[in-house]
Amino acid sequence: MSLPMPVPTTARQPLWYKDAVIYQLHVKTFADSNGDGIGDFRGLSSKLNYLADLGVTCLWLLPMYPSPFRDDGYDIADYYSIHPSYGTLDDFREFLEAAHTRRLQVVTELVLNHTSDQHTWFKEARMSRNNPRRDWYVWSDTDDKYRGVRIIFIDTERSNWAWAPESKAYYWHRFFSHQPDLNYDNPAVREEMWNVMRFWLGLGVDGFRVDAVPYLIEREGTSCENLPETHDVVKFLRANLAEHFPDRMLLADANQPPELVRPYFSEGDEFHMAFHFPLMTRMFMAVRLEDRKPLVEVIERTPEIPETCQWGIFLRNHDELTLEMVSDVERAYMIDEYARDPASRIYLGIRRRLAPLLDGDRRRIELMNGLLMSMPGSPIIYYGDEIGMGDNIYLGDRNGVRTPMQWNGGWNAGFSTADPERLAQPQISNHQFCYQARKGESQTRADHSLLNWMRRLISVRQSTAVFSRGTTTFLMPANHRVLAYLRSLGREQVLCVYNLSNSAQAVELDLQSLAGAVPIEMFGRSLFPRIGELPYMLTLEPYAFFWFRLRRL
Ligand code: NOJ
Ligand code: CA
Repeated sequence: MSLPMPVPTTARQPLWYKDAVIYQLHVKTFADSNGDGIGDFRGLSSKLNYLADLGVTCLWLLPMYPSPFRDDGYDIADYYSIHPSYGTLDDFREFLEAAHTRRLQVVTELVLNHTSDQHTWFKEARMSRNNPRRDWYVWSDTDDKYRGVRIIFIDTERSNWAWAPESKAYYWHRFFSHQPDLNYDNPAVREEMWNVMRFWLGLGVDGFRVDAVPYLIEREGTSCENLPETHDVVKFLRANLAEHFPDRMLLADANQPPELVRPYFSEGDEFHMAFHFPLMTRMFMAVRLEDRKPLVEVIERTPEIPETCQWGIFLRNHDELTLEMVSDVERAYMIDEYARDPASRIYLGIRRRLAPLLDGDRRRIELMNGLLMSMPGSPIIYYGDEIGMGDNIYLGDRNGVRTPMQWNGGWNAGFSTADPERLAQPQISNHQFCYQARKGESQTRADHSLLNWMRRLISVRQSTAVFSRGTTTFLMPANHRVLAYLRSLGREQVLCVYNLSNSAQAVELDLQSLAGAVPIEMFGRSLFPRIGELPYMLTLEPYAFFWFRLRRL
């Protein structure tokens, strides 16, 4: 296949992803330029100033490829083009150029594990046992191979096998039955996926969020997750990337405990980044328990990763708040505290956005974002959460957290000029979170809006590399409701102190080793009393936090 003309890009700094603030969005529900009710690349391009002003440095786009949309685009029918509702490849190219001009990197989805059953590869493969594409997927005469492998979408799937009547055989699928797994034991499949990567990288894409990584290879007698052969596939793709596009980034979607995610960084020769799923759950737990223990524990349990690697940390995303990999006790606690309404549960998780999970409480929203921006890793913001958008738990599947972006108080909240009935998803109408209450461009003008607070938060975070590159050391004050840690990089030190509770707290911090330094509060630049030999005393309002830069004046 001949490669299209690349888009010029701003020079990528080495390790740029380590200093990134990532914004995750859905082209479909971000901005509609032609009034058909569906967001598109031209619409997205028109909103780039908003994103650049927010201070994020990288955009991660949900799948944008032709698809029957039975899994909102994660069921890909053609890896080499753009879904016609979103525009043309030229529109994409223009968007990419406009994003790069604003120093925004762009990360797209690479769905390796499976295709749609509407992909021509699968349509051919299923027709007969001797079709040349047959071996691109995983087949069996019976449905009892790989017994015991867990089912992920437990609400809809009964088995990981589905029947193909045309050729009288079963095919393997870890997700929906319309998403057949590709066969990575077949070298042709690996080569083709490298071709897919080359195509988008050649256009100028800065990296990929690689979907559903643990499930690439199956072996009898195993859980069919995280197998050594799966790591070989990743190494193959990374080696090609390193040779041809060394400044691009791969981010692993591997919903596993940290010790099982660690091998995906390997010696720095697999993924550059990986999501930290348990840290997400622990942030929500700590704030509800009003205790730092869950957070300290999870960070202490997190293995060291190579210098060139980085965690991707987040509060919410386009899926349910996953509770797959937590203990039964933790899951029960989270459900009890955050998902009393059964309609808010799906699979093993909770289909809610950030603001409704926190009852729309501005103090807790700020606290959680403060944690997100100061914990070790590159933070990822889910579109709309910067303005406190709500959800609709009655929309089916995970659509309730994928409603149109709320821009202003106009028609369809400024998302589209279409009739409201035509919108890709209905707007949020609930009185607390509807667009009259939460809207992006209007929040731009209100000094004390959540949006402007988020901008400030991001710019303070980005004023030093200590948050993105520094080490993390916990202080263990007697008061458990307070979480305190020191981020350090060379001579630079930042002290972060959080009140995780709903009541005012006093805390005494042992800062003897820092005696002589003056804490400067980073948002207002106010000087606090110099640190001495005695315990350093602070008081914090409910859910308040401080970031102090420590200066030897
Ligand atoms: C993970 C994605 O985040 C999710 O949205 C999707 O349904 C599954 N992979 C299957 O592709
Ligand atoms: Ca449109």
